[in-house]
Amino acid sequence: MNELALLCKELRLENLEKLAAQVEFQNEVQYLTDLLTLASKHRDARRVQRLIKEARFPVVKTFDGYQFDPISFPVGFDKEQLLSLEFIEQNENILCIGAVGTGKTYLATALGVKACSQGKRVRFYRAVDLCTELAEKHRSGGLGRALKQLQKLDLLILDEVGYIPFDKTSSQLLFNVLSNAYEQQSIIVTSNLEFGRWNEIFRDDRLTAALIDRLVHHAYILGFTGTSFRYREAVLARGGGATNSEG
Ligand SMILES: Nc1ncnc2c1ncn2[C@@H]1O[C@H](COP(=O)(O)OP(=O)(O)OP(=O)(O)O)[C@@H](O)[C@H]1O
Ligand SMILES: [Mg+2]
Repeated sequence: MNELALLCKELRLENLEKLAAQVEFQNEVQYLTDLLTLASKHRDARRVQRLIKEARFPVVKTFDGYQFDPISFPVGFDKEQLLSLEFIEQNENILCIGAVGTGKTYLATALGVKACSQGKRVRFYRAVDLCTELAEKHRSGGLGRALKQLQKLDLLILDEVGYIPFDKTSSQLLFNVLSNAYEQQSIIVTSNLEFGRWNEIFRDDRLTAALIDRLVHHAYILGFTGTSFRYREAVLARGGGATNSEG
């Protein structure tokens, strides 16, 4: 390794050598300013890529092409406020409740990706996967550490709460996570079930009530209605035009 490469490594500016050729030289100050600005931009972009990777989105998606019409916003909260991500700064929750295939997971993902691009630590879990992971840590004695790791996040996304009911241990573990997050960090939950039926998921009326209470306090509840986009796409692919079937 040459001396310059070694120095760049020491200063943690490994790509400086490569970037140096991309900057035009007019004078020393201008050259160094432009080069270091470029290096800083590259570093930010790498950080965002790392945050997106660490968030483990099933598919990385942005708001390009996202249609907001299935969403009913609560009074006093609109699309612009949602997209400002101010709810994360305020440790508030977004609860996406409603019909199959109407864009709940897509919205949660696009919000998460946007949060990563603003330097936030995000983690996406299907609720059932988080429960499995925590139950496994519980057995191996690493539960405390796992819960601490979760508490470091700015945004926790819990997708698909409700498709698979939880056993007692899983329900309690999830309650732990939500209880730790209460007023400390932001959560996005997606579910196909309205709250009135959440005792079917957790199968414990008292725990369900306490859990919903924590989640709903400081939360914006978005309702999702209409025809499944998967269904619409399938109909279109078959050359049909009907899009008025619910589901
Ligand atoms: N609002 C939307 N705008 C654009 N495309 C959408 C929208 N909603 C859904 N889609 C399309 O439909 C697919 C399924 O959406 P998504 O997985 O987000 O639905 P969901 O509400 O999470 O459904 P489920 O309840 O079955 O989990 C997406 O990958 C996307 O291609
Ligand atoms: Mg989904």
